[in-house]
Amino acid sequence: MAYAKIEIAPSILASNFAKLGDDVRAVEQGGADVIHVDVMDGHFVPNISIGVPVVVSLHKATRLPLDVHLMIERPEEYVERFAKAGASRILIHQEATVHLDRALTLIRESGAQAGVVINPATPVAMLSDVLDKVDTVLVMSVNPGFGGQKFIPGAIEKIRQLNQGRARYNGAFRIEVDGGVDAENVAELARAGANTFVAGTSIFHTPDPAAAVRNLRKLATEATSQRV
Ligand code: DX5
Ligand code: ZN
Repeated sequence: MAYAKIEIAPSILASNFAKLGDDVRAVEQGGADVIHVDVMDGHFVPNISIGVPVVVSLHKATRLPLDVHLMIERPEEYVERFAKAGASRILIHQEATVHLDRALTLIRESGAQAGVVINPATPVAMLSDVLDKVDTVLVMSVNPGFGGQKFIPGAIEKIRQLNQGRARYNGAFRIEVDGGVDAENVAELARAGANTFVAGTSIFHTPDPAAAVRNLRKLATEATSQRV
């Protein structure tokens, strides 16, 4: 199955922005696969975080791909700028645009990989007409806007549904999960079919972020090898 590879994606939202470069190097040393960057506009979500200039700096500071999660309204207007800034993957919310198909096409045309994201209240069925146009489906397991929230278990069933539906698309998209992911739930998420695990608090709010990355990977890999 394509995309069987486990990816650990530390979310810098939980890092210390005053020493962002050091924090990124620490997770790189722990074997992180991608760096997850949360962009919030204070409209789509009730919080403001970071934007294009931080992506530009991160792109210079790490060789890891940047997974840019846009929690913004009218994401299609910003795709080009984030792609130029160095985003390898651009993820937009199904709920954030009435022109989802156009926005996903724009992402691919910009040279980045295209991802679509669904909030906890959005069913997988909402994505049926775009699954052939995405490289990643990201299932939110918290309501977006803040790090450190409690995992919402309904995400697991959505990951199962996507994993089953994936066969029809030759496994051509990766399943990512974001929000409250930690050592307690990562194995179950991996068994359900998730490939990319975003984690902020459970990596950066520990004494040894590199060790936290290695531990999440170990748990997810063991769980996947037991998948039937
Ligand atoms: C939430 C963000 C997440 C967040 C995850 O809006 O999309 O990426 O940083 O943080 P934790 O792992 O702390 O839930
Ligand atoms: Zn995120």
